[in-house]
Amino acid sequence: MRIDDRTFLVTGAGSGLGAATAGLLVAAGARVALLDLQADAVQAQAERLGDQALALPVDVTDAGALSAAIDSLMERWGSLQGAINCAGIVGGARILGRNGPHDLAAFARIVTVNLVGSFNVLRLAAAAMAQGEADEGGERGVIVNTASIAAFDGQIGQAAYAASKGGVASLTLPAARELAGQGIRVMTIAPSASCTSCGMPSSIGVSKMPGAIVITRMPLLDRSRAIGKVMPATPAFEAA
Ligand SMILES: NC(=O)c1ccc[n+]([C@@H]2O[C@H](COP(=O)([O-])OP(=O)(O)OC[C@H]3O[C@@H](n4cnc5c(N)ncnc54)[C@H](O)[C@@H]3O)[C@@H](O)[C@H]2O)c1
Repeated sequence: MRIDDRTFLVTGAGSGLGAATAGLLVAAGARVALLDLQADAVQAQAERLGDQALALPVDVTDAGALSAAIDSLMERWGSLQGAINCAGIVGGARILGRNGPHDLAAFARIVTVNLVGSFNVLRLAAAAMAQGEADEGGERGVIVNTASIAAFDGQIGQAAYAASKGGVASLTLPAARELAGQGIRVMTIAPSASCTSCGMPSSIGVSKMPGAIVITRMPLLDRSRAIGKVMPATPAFEAA
């Protein structure tokens, strides 16, 4: 899809992957709404990026607040063509820990932010995109979710995180199949552990499935665990 002169929203844009993605999109000529729980961080990022950026402090798990945030960007820019889901939290605990079984509220919190929050963004962004005109190729928009290598290779202590990211990965195909009818592509990236602010070199493994693509961003030293074919290093949103 063309990026210039298109409107995107990026969640988790106050930090890490989301902040970097918002910066790349603005540099490529897009208008970008930066959504994040951390109001100060997302405001600072938007100021740094200039007039093409709009800070929208919001909790992605809050249906009413997210709907209002998307209304704000639609009022300002009139349409939406891309949504990049980067908001997420981690949290490590054993199922049987020193102090007893895994805390249920902690498990539910991680699943709520990473999976329910991503779905909340996907459904409301898709509704906004579906209102727009399709381009010459019949495309109205693209939604990129962020899973994790933990979705496929979860480690001890990652029960909640891996379950949440497995849900994001499983959501991809039914969403892609349904929303293809509206000209909206859905895909999910699955990064391995990476330092999101230090520019660690990486390569990208791509597993193609009908209607969706899962991309696994792998550190160079960890290629043996890539899912699918290993490709040269490329910014994730360009590869998507
Ligand atoms: N960095 C890694 O090693 C790695 C590996 C695999 C997957 N991921 C995934 O990539 C995504 C980005 O990771 P990152 O390293 O940039 O993390 P990060 O902590 O730097 O950024 C996450 C951002 O999400 C925001 N956020 C958290 N909960 C939110 C909510 N409820 N509503 C709105 N915003 C919320 C935070 O405020 C933060 O700014 C996450 O989904 C993470 O699980 C990261």
